[in-house]
Amino acid sequence: MNYTTKIANQVFHHLFINAAGVYCQTVEELEQIQNAPCAGAVITKSATAKERSGNSEPRYFENSVEHNTINSMGLPNLGIDYYLNYVLKHSLKLPTLFSIVGLSQSEIIDNLKKLQASGFSGLTELNLSCPNVSGKPQIAYDFAATREILDNVFAFYSKPLGVKLPPYFDIAHFDQIAAILNDYPLAYVNAINSVGNGLVIDPETDTVVIKPKDGFGGLGGKQIKATALANVRALRQRLHPQIKIIATGGVINGRDVYDHLLCGADLISIGSQLEIEGPTVFARLEKELEEIFADKGITDLRQVRGKLKLIA
Ligand code: DHB
Repeated sequence: MNYTTKIANQVFHHLFINAAGVYCQTVEELEQIQNAPCAGAVITKSATAKERSGNSEPRYFENSVEHNTINSMGLPNLGIDYYLNYVLKHSLKLPTLFSIVGLSQSEIIDNLKKLQASGFSGLTELNLSCPNVSGKPQIAYDFAATREILDNVFAFYSKPLGVKLPPYFDIAHFDQIAAILNDYPLAYVNAINSVGNGLVIDPETDTVVIKPKDGFGGLGGKQIKATALANVRALRQRLHPQIKIIATGGVINGRDVYDHLLCGADLISIGSQLEIEGPTVFARLEKELEEIFADKGITDLRQVRGKLKLIA
């Protein structure tokens, strides 16, 4: 299958990318993704202006049998300069996306000014949806704040930019966020971030499984697939066609990839299952996807992308 996909100035030869936050904090991890068979791109851990150690541990829990995770990492990262050095000084095999976050609007703007002034020419992903910093609501749930940030960003930022969105759960919210995003020259949206503030309990001990925020954390894995598909589908139906979609959420097997393609995904990012399985996950997913294509006689991605059928 020819998987060639374009977003802005970047060309991808496989569909898969790590989800920001997973396998991307250090150069060693980033290089493991660069070299993973069937990886199409790499994204850095969301960078703040300064290095952060993040929330207290345990802050990540996985149920590898049920393919579900919960995390409250709290944006541990090595700081924007570390990731800038990585993208500028290393020879990168794959398109490498730069994820930016900030604890305030001014930190976001300062970080993007640094990227604007740098030699980085790839895609930037602005994370508007970290659920795990105490006292900081997810920006993209505040529609006025989202518009204000995008106004201020696009006043100076001229490199290709995407945004990482939280899941929405109401048709009116799909309408409202899409109407805002359509007002800007976005290269893409990435949907969805983890489903914020879930709670998992250990039945042996009646105890929460992660320490920060008294056990509340972002959910990932199989349990978020239906929400992820709905967000990809709803956004694809509402966004201008030039705004591409990176789908994230609930991808465990080839059928999950296929379903995201039906909903309109351009690329597919893997979070929980990458953490659980490691970077060999991409080749397994591509093989399983190709088996589905062979069964169905599909020879071109255009036969699948956005081709979800409805009941008449
Ligand atoms: C973190 C979690 C997220 O889901 C995200 O988008 C960004 C950061 C975190 O806790 O580090």
